[in-house]
Amino acid sequence: MNLLIINGPNLNMLGIREPEIYGRQDYSTLCTFIKAAAEEVGATCEIFQSNHEGAIVDKIQGALGRFDGIVINPAAYTHTSVAIADALSAIALPTVEVHLSDITQRETFRQHSFVAPIAKKTFMGKGFEGYRLAIRFLADNS
Ligand code: DQA
Repeated sequence: MNLLIINGPNLNMLGIREPEIYGRQDYSTLCTFIKAAAEEVGATCEIFQSNHEGAIVDKIQGALGRFDGIVINPAAYTHTSVAIADALSAIALPTVEVHLSDITQRETFRQHSFVAPIAKKTFMGKGFEGYRLAIRFLADNS
């Protein structure tokens, strides 16, 4: 199983960015964690991070025929991007949504996700562990 892991804007700032919400571990530590989680289930993965909506749409479109599933933390685009949701619908690969924080317990504007209706499952509020749960979910359900 080959998985595409997509991280949206500002997730490259982990460790620096609001550590009381997102923790003190940096982005490269998250990438190491994700690779280990994929290995645990015998999967391979590519990790992609971008601060640009169109780059994320392009990456999703290019996933068709190359990947068996997608784990996506769309970050702020969760709450704004019809384009990312449409791209996920278009390619129709099994997709799991992840958020480090529990977006249901935060500001009102974070409580709506355009990706949630397309995702097979959403893990939130579990920090890095959410990515492991998402990878395991795809391994068990694909
Ligand atoms: C986030 C939550 C979003 O509301 C926020 O814009 C992010 C990160 C999370 O992982 O908790 O950038 O997706």
